[in-house]
Amino acid sequence: MVEIEAPRSGHPGLAELEPGDEEAVAGLFGRMSSQSLYRRFFSPVLRVEQFTRLVLRIDGHERAAVAAIADGEVVGVAQYSRVSRASRADLAIMVADAWQRQGLGTRMVAALAVRAAAEGIEAFTVDVQGDNHAAMRLLHRMAPGTRLAFSGGVGEGEFHI
Ligand SMILES: CC(C)(COP(=O)(O)OP(=O)(O)OC[C@H]1O[C@@H](n2cnc3c(N)ncnc32)[C@H](O)[C@@H]1OP(=O)(O)O)[C@@H](O)C(=O)NCCC(=O)NCCS
Repeated sequence: MVEIEAPRSGHPGLAELEPGDEEAVAGLFGRMSSQSLYRRFFSPVLRVEQFTRLVLRIDGHERAAVAAIADGEVVGVAQYSRVSRASRADLAIMVADAWQRQGLGTRMVAALAVRAAAEGIEAFTVDVQGDNHAAMRLLHRMAPGTRLAFSGGVGEGEFHI
């Protein structure tokens, strides 16, 4: 991984992930509850290696990921994946349960947006389960006024970065 922001007392640093960061990312899965994982992946996480590979399917251009690092451990990941040949990308984010509600999600999405904009991405789309109040607050904070279109209990929103 490549440091973006150094840690300061009590504040995790930020780094861009690289495809070889498997061990560090696998550790994050152990710091997340099954409910948080379900909210991120919309599926139970039975095989951590399989989902670690999914997170690390990145190339630094079409797909990139920013991690939050506390005491050398990954405690959150926000990532985008460009929608084929479009100027928008799907956004996904997860924060270790013990680190939620401390501003990390907001910081990672802000850093990821800067990264994505440099690649010509103009908007993020995001899928949120209908009862995921944390993700909805985060969305409201990053892009007030974003509307979610609901289908089958999942809301899809799009916001400009
Ligand atoms: C959604 C998630 C990424 C938010 O990360 P976070 O680091 O806790 O977010 P922040 O601390 O930056 O908070 C952002 C906003 O959400 C609010 N929030 C965070 N957790 C909340 C909760 N459990 N209930 C209600 N609001 C919550 C914060 O108060 C803040 O709102 P405010 O600006 O009005 O005060 C985190 O809860 C998570 O990882 N959830 C599981 C995975 C997931 O849901 N991913 C989203 C779909 S891909």
